[in-house]
Amino acid sequence: MFPKNTWYVACTPDELEQQPLGRQICGEHMVFFRGPQGEVAAVENYCPHRGAPLSLGRVVDGQLVCGYHGLVMGCDGKTVEMPGQRVRGFPANKNYRAVERYGFIWVWPGDQALADPALIPHLEWAVSDQWAYGGGLFHINCDYRLMIDNLMDLTHETYVHASSIGQKEIDEIAPVTSVVGDEVVTTRHMENIMAPPFWRMALRGNNLADDVPVDRWQICRFTPPSHVLIEVGVAHAGQGGYEADASCKASSIVVDFITPETETSIWYFWGMARNFNPADAELTASIREGQGKIFSEDLEMLEQQQRNLLRHPERQLLKLNIDAGGVQSRKILERLIAAEAAGGGALIASSH
Ligand code: FES
Ligand SMILES: [Fe+2]
Repeated sequence: MFPKNTWYVACTPDELEQQPLGRQICGEHMVFFRGPQGEVAAVENYCPHRGAPLSLGRVVDGQLVCGYHGLVMGCDGKTVEMPGQRVRGFPANKNYRAVERYGFIWVWPGDQALADPALIPHLEWAVSDQWAYGGGLFHINCDYRLMIDNLMDLTHETYVHASSIGQKEIDEIAPVTSVVGDEVVTTRHMENIMAPPFWRMALRGNNLADDVPVDRWQICRFTPPSHVLIEVGVAHAGQGGYEADASCKASSIVVDFITPETETSIWYFWGMARNFNPADAELTASIREGQGKIFSEDLEMLEQQQRNLLRHPERQLLKLNIDAGGVQSRKILERLIAAEAAGGGALIASSH
């Protein structure tokens, strides 16, 4: 169950460079390509001739040419021509509103009449040259809500990510969860601790000592449908922690856009935006590599957790204090899904 009348990240521009991209999003089989002016387009990944996936074709002059018998389709889903045929009576393909913004391609899988680009959340870090961003994409066989749970409760870092960002102080300090409108925030502050290896690397990347005590914070923000942006960082201890001056901390935003593929699989766009040494491309690359390794540690856990849940659908799960962020996020999603089912549109406002 997922809201469909909302914007999801579908792909990144590099994925469209060579050929059309077939991708299933919220159960809809889509193909993404660039039109005559370079604008991004998305239509059903289905050739009206014999049902071949159009993603196996190629793009010629901004039109999609089916790889089977050469039917040519425009960005609007209408057949333009086909060798030796009159195409006027060919049924049109569904087309999906797609928008390129902030280095991502966003798509609206639900009612196309409601697709309003103004509802795409504003991402300051993506437009400001004070910030640098590096990220990647994983395909994971799990319900998108399991990934939301994972990101809204970072207690698991101690166990899943023991060698990089985990440390025992995480479990010793309970997170605090609050809900404001459609946003859920789970916060944890740890004071006067030693930084774990990933954060030592980040401190060095900001020309700061890495062998002194630090204050560390994690502020996880969920906004519908499935965006989790996490402010994370460390500051030399006693300098104000989260509020400390930029000269004595290394902080960043962990970026997570979780796009359901099916009920039990996702496209997971992960990354990190930082506002220290933004011009240092080598630092961006090493943070990206470190983060990619850390995030890959969650994959097996989530996929096997999903399999267990499918094996035991009747079993109730515990809801502990540490689970509050995920539980509250699910409540908001349930409300939006119910509103959508009742015909309410479930328009999701941009609140980042
Ligand atoms: S199936 Fe696409 S042209 Fe025949
Ligand atoms: Fe994790």
